[in-house]
Amino acid sequence: MKIISGIQPSGELHIGNYLGAIKNWLKLQADPANECLFFIADYHSITQAYNPKKKSGEILDLAIDLLALGLNPKKSVIFQQSQIPYHTELAWIFNTITPTGELAQMTQFKDKFQVMFDHFDEKHGNEKQFIDSIEDTTAENLTIKVNEQVSDLREKIKKFDNVGLFDYPVLMAADILIYKADAVPVGEDQIQHLELTRNLARRFNTKFGKTFSEPESLLTETPRIMSLTDPTKKMSKSHGEKSYIALKDSPEKIAQKIKSAVSDIGGGKDKGGDNLLSIFKAFSETKSEKSEYEKFKNNHNTGELKYAEFKPRLSELVANNFSEYRKKHAELSKNKKYVKKILAECAEKASVIAEKTLKEVKEKIGLLI
Ligand code: ADP
Ligand code: TRP
Repeated sequence: MKIISGIQPSGELHIGNYLGAIKNWLKLQADPANECLFFIADYHSITQAYNPKKKSGEILDLAIDLLALGLNPKKSVIFQQSQIPYHTELAWIFNTITPTGELAQMTQFKDKFQVMFDHFDEKHGNEKQFIDSIEDTTAENLTIKVNEQVSDLREKIKKFDNVGLFDYPVLMAADILIYKADAVPVGEDQIQHLELTRNLARRFNTKFGKTFSEPESLLTETPRIMSLTDPTKKMSKSHGEKSYIALKDSPEKIAQKIKSAVSDIGGGKDKGGDNLLSIFKAFSETKSEKSEYEKFKNNHNTGELKYAEFKPRLSELVANNFSEYRKKHAELSKNKKYVKKILAECAEKASVIAEKTLKEVKEKIGLLI
């Protein structure tokens, strides 16, 4: 199978990224029957607010992360998206066969906007707190305050709003189809984008003749790890440092975060507990760890799980899993030249495939003279 996947260089990797996607990348790479391409989606990452002075550092750090986790340039092509201009060229062509209504249905860009509203709510509190916070609660004064807040939000939306964020899934479809990939290992939140990718492949084929096959998504057993602070939301960099476990976190920090993780959100279903148990299961490798998991799970089912016992064990398990990674990351960080060389060499390999597809596409759509 030809495999492709990408990840954005925007902050540190967390165990959601690892358990939902990268773990699968490593598994797929291990099978010599697969041809694997993995890339750093830097063009995608600039659709969100970012610091241009920090971006190149983030790109290199993500490359180091992927190598430290075990992606092997002898087995996989590991590259930086923006080094291959064919992705964005194909995205432009795909733009012309994408109805705007189809993009408007995509949930990811709406979620990104939602995060902004969440920050807004965190800052300003709920309605009652808001009213309590205003000393003079005359109607006129309240109106002034509400208007101030609305314009504050409007300013934020303006800063955030860009066509790139809306068009993000089209570039993603181009990333995948330019290599004519068969399968795409991603977390659950990307399934909708994969559907759009298949729609575009089909539409292109119908309009211009059979060119692309329709790639499938590959999920892990943990396609959606939830936030530690709010187990109703997916674990993500956007929800604050305490909500996720970064791969770089020290064992002490991991223990702290897991200790304060929400286990019971009330309302009957113990979602936080389920989430922590699924993390335990995903990191259980040995027979004894697996039977330990069964014991904790049974206790959880009968309502007898002792978090004071379970949480420190979970912390240990997670921290141990990344000890090798932390060591390799430190080593590779001292050798950035080597990392850049790998990216450049891999970009050349990827370019050969991408250029060929783009030429075929240009020919089919009538641009080759
Ligand atoms: P984030 O949401 O933290 O910004 P990315 O969008 O960079 O993460 O995701 C990179 C990869 O990790 C994608 O394949 C995505 O589906 C997967 N992923 C992200 N968060 C999770 C999660 N909480 N659970 C499982 N997979 C996830
Ligand atoms: N959209 C993906 C994410 O947020 C990253 C990505 C960009 C990607 N292009 C891709 C994933 C192509 C798989 C294939 O995580």
